[in-house]
Amino acid sequence: MKVFKCKICQEGYLGDEAPTHCPFCGAHQPYMIEAKDFEIPEYTLTDVSRNNLEEALKLEVSNAEFYFCAASRSDNVADATMFKRLGKIESEHSSTIAKELKIPSPDISRDKDMCSDENVGNLAESHQREASAISHYTKFLGEATEGRINEVFKAIIEIENDHLSLTEGRF
Ligand SMILES: [Fe+2]
Ligand SMILES: [Fe+2]
Repeated sequence: MKVFKCKICQEGYLGDEAPTHCPFCGAHQPYMIEAKDFEIPEYTLTDVSRNNLEEALKLEVSNAEFYFCAASRSDNVADATMFKRLGKIESEHSSTIAKELKIPSPDISRDKDMCSDENVGNLAESHQREASAISHYTKFLGEATEGRINEVFKAIIEIENDHLSLTEGRF
């Protein structure tokens, strides 16, 4: 067994092989590296990226809280499982972004009234929220001059695209 570490969320993973996706943040396999090779170079955040990360943090917190709400109201096991997992992944994204901002991870509420009572409405809202996150992060990626921030936004855009595909054709 080997020790891996995710370059995006910096969580560890124990296994024989790197997983196809980070079990915590969903980053794709190339970001799962052996922990002994792990290194994030020091960098200074620009004001532009600081503002963009702060905006991204708000989006991730809101999306995580939406998903926990949707999970609690879903009328079938598969969608409740999906929404709960998405809530945990978006919570991990908020922690990841907070790490880059060098601030504590924000609190995520699990019982906010911020979703529909109808599962199909929540599938549609999931799709709209993921699409909105992707468009914001694509803009932020274009404005980031720090290699590390480029890497983080690029990886998170890939993950949110994976999430978008989950609800394709479902509403
Ligand atoms: Fe990760
Ligand atoms: Fe996210």
